[in-house]
Amino acid sequence: MESLKGKHIVLGITGGIAAYKSAILLRLLIKRGAEVQVVMTPAAKEFITPVTLSALSGKPVVSEFFTANTGEWHSHVDLGLWADLMVVAPATASTLGKMANGIADNMLVTTYLSAKEHVMVAPAMDLDMYASPSTRRNLATLASDGVEIIEAAEGELASHLVGKGRMAEPEEIVERVERFFLRRNDMSGMKVAITVGPTYEKIDPVRFVGNYSSGKMGFALAEECASRGAEVTAVAGPVSYYPSNPSIKIVKVESAREMNDEALKAFGSADVGIFAAAVADYRPEEYCDHKIKREGSEEMTLRLVKNPDIALNVANNKKNGQTLVGFALETNDAVVNAEKKLEKKNLDMIVLNSLEDKGAGFRTDTNKVTLISRNGDEKRFPLKSKREVACDIIDEIMELRKNNS
Ligand code: PMT
Repeated sequence: MESLKGKHIVLGITGGIAAYKSAILLRLLIKRGAEVQVVMTPAAKEFITPVTLSALSGKPVVSEFFTANTGEWHSHVDLGLWADLMVVAPATASTLGKMANGIADNMLVTTYLSAKEHVMVAPAMDLDMYASPSTRRNLATLASDGVEIIEAAEGELASHLVGKGRMAEPEEIVERVERFFLRRNDMSGMKVAITVGPTYEKIDPVRFVGNYSSGKMGFALAEECASRGAEVTAVAGPVSYYPSNPSIKIVKVESAREMNDEALKAFGSADVGIFAAAVADYRPEEYCDHKIKREGSEEMTLRLVKNPDIALNVANNKKNGQTLVGFALETNDAVVNAEKKLEKKNLDMIVLNSLEDKGAGFRTDTNKVTLISRNGDEKRFPLKSKREVACDIIDEIMELRKNNS
């Protein structure tokens, strides 16, 4: 019954009729052993009193930046660090808009902006507001920021109209919370190594051969594994963005040869190895130690030689019980090419993403993947945020490991 024992949950409550259901949600979370800190927006207090919520949670409710009579400062940063999970239920259209756009004018939104771990929102509003382009846009932004959306249900609304906009029932929200912790804890004690980003192959001190990889997909995987308790090492090429989770160890490299050397070290002891990097297959045969001048010749020939195949080198040293997963970035004959790579590189699974799919591949916040396993299973997923894609990939890897153990 105490499925949430020891878990720290921030319950954010905003100003909507569904706020009365938050008291039930709070009670269910507490009954399952969670420690819950309620954070309310000023408008929420018009719908449910802080006294009810502090009595149920056993903690004073946080709503203002200061306690008026003592001037005591309430730190949203401390709350954000304390929380293993933040659930905003109900989430009004206004709060969703503020969260999506970083409008930090109340304690709830500042806590959200400081949250280090997973965040869920359970929207509740009238059907027209829920369907409006603005709300849909804000929800899409939040989803691509990694926020889990617990979609509103159909039913009678406060306006007595019938449609989609009712907050999900407290029992359903609790089930999602339990599932999140089950998922998150899946990987505790496990080691994961991931190659991330592009490689740069130097031509001269100012030029290189490279590609468009931003590192978003690889780091989404790193974040997902770390949030499930794994010890994660990311061997990353030159990227301009790094994950916020401080527990992720990052080994910075530039070229494919450097990535190969560091990957052989990091992947050796890993239970799961994922090759998300876009490695340059070729490098200039010679490096020129001064800037190549354009004067004097109308043409320039760059001779390229093959780089090491990192995935293959790691797979050739594969240890017992290790699961190795590659990516295939394709532009044509996607499935056939991906299957060839799966075989040739001796991988357990390959994640196919195709540049033919809009919103998939390099630099986007979204991706559309097909997971192809060695046993012939093929699973296609719709376009999702890279963090959600990471979640699907890790779920599948864990499933494979269960079946192979
Ligand atoms: O970083 P983002 O902007 O978020 O973009 C994500 C991504 C498109 C880079 C990512 O989703 C992806 O597809 N990564 C693999 C890109 C790639 O190089 O694919 P490939 O089909 O050329 O290579 C097949 C596999 O072998 C890959 O796992 C690759 O990491 C690995 N490989 C390739 C060449 C090489 N020399 N060594 C390797 O390890």
